[in-house]
Amino acid sequence: MEIKGDTELLVWAAAAVILLTLLAFSTIPPLLDYCRKWTSMRPIPGPGPNYPLVGDALYLKPNGGDFFLQVIEFTESFRSQPLLKLWIGPIPFIIVYHAETVEPILSTSKHMDKAYSYKFLHPWLGKGLLTSTGKKWRSRRKMITPTFHFAILSEFLEVMNEQSSILVEKLKKRVDGNSFNCFMDITLCALDIISETAMGRKIHAQSNRDSEYIQAIYEMSDIIQRRQKMPWLWPDFVYSWLSDGKKHKRNLKILHSFTDKAILERVEEIKKMGAEKQGVCSNSDLDKPKKRSAFLDMLLMAIDESGNKLSYTDIREEVDTFMFEGHDTTAAALNWSLFLLGSHPEAQQQVQNELNEVFGSASSAAVASCL
Ligand SMILES: *[C@@H]1O[C@H](CO)[C@@H](O)[C@H](O)[C@H]1NC(C)=O
Repeated sequence: MEIKGDTELLVWAAAAVILLTLLAFSTIPPLLDYCRKWTSMRPIPGPGPNYPLVGDALYLKPNGGDFFLQVIEFTESFRSQPLLKLWIGPIPFIIVYHAETVEPILSTSKHMDKAYSYKFLHPWLGKGLLTSTGKKWRSRRKMITPTFHFAILSEFLEVMNEQSSILVEKLKKRVDGNSFNCFMDITLCALDIISETAMGRKIHAQSNRDSEYIQAIYEMSDIIQRRQKMPWLWPDFVYSWLSDGKKHKRNLKILHSFTDKAILERVEEIKKMGAEKQGVCSNSDLDKPKKRSAFLDMLLMAIDESGNKLSYTDIREEVDTFMFEGHDTTAAALNWSLFLLGSHPEAQQQVQNELNEVFGSASSAAVASCL
């Protein structure tokens, strides 16, 4: 395995070894645990030289896209093996890439605890649905489930349609030209939809991708992923001195003040609407379009089994979680769906036929012309 041999990397490696030695060996139990894992994981093959404590971290690509390709390469060269392992610092990761090895994991509730690397999402997302575990996750999940009721989701269809037509118009301009990566366009559309449905707030990401908030979401996802792969960036006191750490701090402030503002404004709006309801309805009130409710409204009203409301921090961590998790995975799935449809014209034709059946040929022609 090729190791980038520049001295900077070696200095980092040395620092990492010292730091991790201090961290990991400050007590005996973690050391024993590490040795036990090391021994039990031995039979599982891995791609690299795999040094003690640093593991494979030295040659993993820092950039998300490159790392993805790197993992694909690993899975190709270990195709004949059931699974492979990567040690990221003192933490082992198992990579599964066969249906037979993925299925047993997905079909059990045994492995519900979030991996250590989720810890680096906590400063931004707190311990919301994505990052929490056990009892907290269960009770939160129970409180939030009713907000996904079909009747509530169907109210959001209008937002989805509105934003999708903006996306379609954008894609139309580029169709029939050179091939291009549509991921950014889709991501911005997904961000617009999640912002309005989760917070009741338009952010106009599709027309204003340079906004501070959008940029912060972007940079943040990127630097957190980088941190997860590099054990020498793990200790907070080291991180806060590095440029990534400083960016992290700046973005955190932008992201949290945005959601703070959205929540406070929504609380005010709801209060005002409540006051209006109690007053006499004038004709002009009746003319106003019905205010759509957002996921945030339901969080503000939700109560748990013992009748407790969510605290402000609880609410913000769920809103932040939904803003991130509600666009990231969706955008990736849509991106690849479009890619697959484009690569399989016969399937694309079937989809178009189905749309025509449901909506009539006029409305779906616009959609289909963009695929
Ligand atoms: C989006 O899809 C394109 C293929 O059209 C692919 O090259 C790219 O890596 C995908 N991006 C992400 C982030 O999944």
